Amino acid sequence: MNSTNFTPALGRPEMTGAYDLAIRLLTREKTWRAALLEQLAPCSDDVILDVGCGTGTFALLIKEAVPSARVVGLDPDPEVLKIAAAKAGAAGIEIEWRQAFAHDADRYGVLFTKAVSSLVFHQVPMEEKRRGIAAMIGAVRSGGEVHVADYARQRSTLMRALFGLVQRLDGYENTEPNARGALEAILADFEPDSARPRGVVCTPTGEISLFRLKVAPA
Ligand SMILES: C[S@@+](CC[C@H](N)C(=O)[O-])C[C@H]1O[C@@H](n2cnc3c(N)ncnc32)[C@H](O)[C@@H]1O
Repeated sequence: MNSTNFTPALGRPEMTGAYDLAIRLLTREKTWRAALLEQLAPCSDDVILDVGCGTGTFALLIKEAVPSARVVGLDPDPEVLKIAAAKAGAAGIEIEWRQAFAHDADRYGVLFTKAVSSLVFHQVPMEEKRRGIAAMIGAVRSGGEVHVADYARQRSTLMRALFGLVQRLDGYENTEPNARGALEAILADFEPDSARPRGVVCTPTGEISLFRLKVAPA
């Protein structure tokens, strides 16, 4: 995977500017982001890594909820990072932005109390799903947590059909394994209990599932 080899936020680079609007209209965004924030439960002394942060919406929500938490947003796409930085600047919120892949998450050292990722792993190759989650776990201190919200197994015919729109945008090869349960299988390999969704939000583009993995204390 090189520096240009990734699927952009909305599937094609020329659509990145429409990402925030599309997510608002097509994913019941307020519902799943609120559920993810509640699950993440940020605290004042947290150091949180947002992997595949995109246009920074969730990183900003964390900081708005707990201004004293330190938040680092990571994404391989410089275009989304520009949008994210502009949004944070306009809101007067300080977030550190890094251009990197999910599999780079542990290259900053074991710095973080929590790592989170939203709507990223459905659009990365199989090897990167596994390496990315491993790196998120590797970036978190013992006793910390990894949180993932994403299109995972699509459990009904209706949700499976609606997920077709995401597949048309992001491509079949990377998205199909998620629809068939690949994310749950990868999480189970790291920690069996983490593969059970802690919440599921049905949306006009398929089910978004929320997972939590606890990193064992040393
Ligand atoms: C659908 S967007 C989600 C953005 C954001 N997390 C959110 O909740 O709105 C997916 C993001 O993953 C990023 N991405 C693609 N491949 C990646 C990889 N291998 N590692 C980390 N991020 C990646 C894209 O650049 C894009 O910003």
